[in-house]
Amino acid sequence: MEKDGAPHAAGRRGFITTVAMVGGLIAGYGHGLYRFFEYLVPLKRTRKTGLFVGTLNDIPVGRSLTVHDPQGHTIAIARTSESAENPAAGFKALSSRCPHLGCNVHWESGSQQFVCPCHNGIFDKNGVALSGPPAAEGKNLREYALTVDAKRGWVFVEVTVGSEI
Ligand code: FES
Repeated sequence: MEKDGAPHAAGRRGFITTVAMVGGLIAGYGHGLYRFFEYLVPLKRTRKTGLFVGTLNDIPVGRSLTVHDPQGHTIAIARTSESAENPAAGFKALSSRCPHLGCNVHWESGSQQFVCPCHNGIFDKNGVALSGPPAAEGKNLREYALTVDAKRGWVFVEVTVGSEI
C-alpha cells in the first residue's frame, strides 16, 4: 500500500521535469532561430557621425584636402566658393575612389575638376562624370554631407562608424 501523497509527489516531479524540458527546448530552438535569422538578415550596428576635418582657415577657397573616414575610405574635400550665410555651401566632399575601377581621383584647382589618372576620367566640382569611362558608364563620385560650425569655423564631414555583423 502506498503512503498518502507519494503519487502526488511523483506527479509533481514529472510535471516539473516536463516543464523544464519544454522550457529548455523552447529556449534552445528560440536561440537557434534567432541566430538563423540574424545570419539571413545581418544587424547593422552603424551610425553617422561628424568627422572633424579642419577649420575654415585650413581650407581656403580653391584648395582641397584629403581625409580618411574610420573605415579607410578616402574623401576629397574641395572649397570652391565662400558663402558668409552658409559656409558649408562653398564645400564639396566627395569620395576619392573613382567609380570606374577604384583609382584615386585628385582635385585640380586650375580646371576646377576632379581627375582620375588611370583612364583619364574627369569629374566636375560636384562629382558629376564629364568624360572618360565614368561618364560613359554614367557613374559619378559619391558625395558626403558636410557641415560647418559657423561659430567656431569648424568643418565636419558626415561619415559612418561601426560595422555590420
Ligand atoms: S579608374 Fe578612374 S577612369 Fe578608370
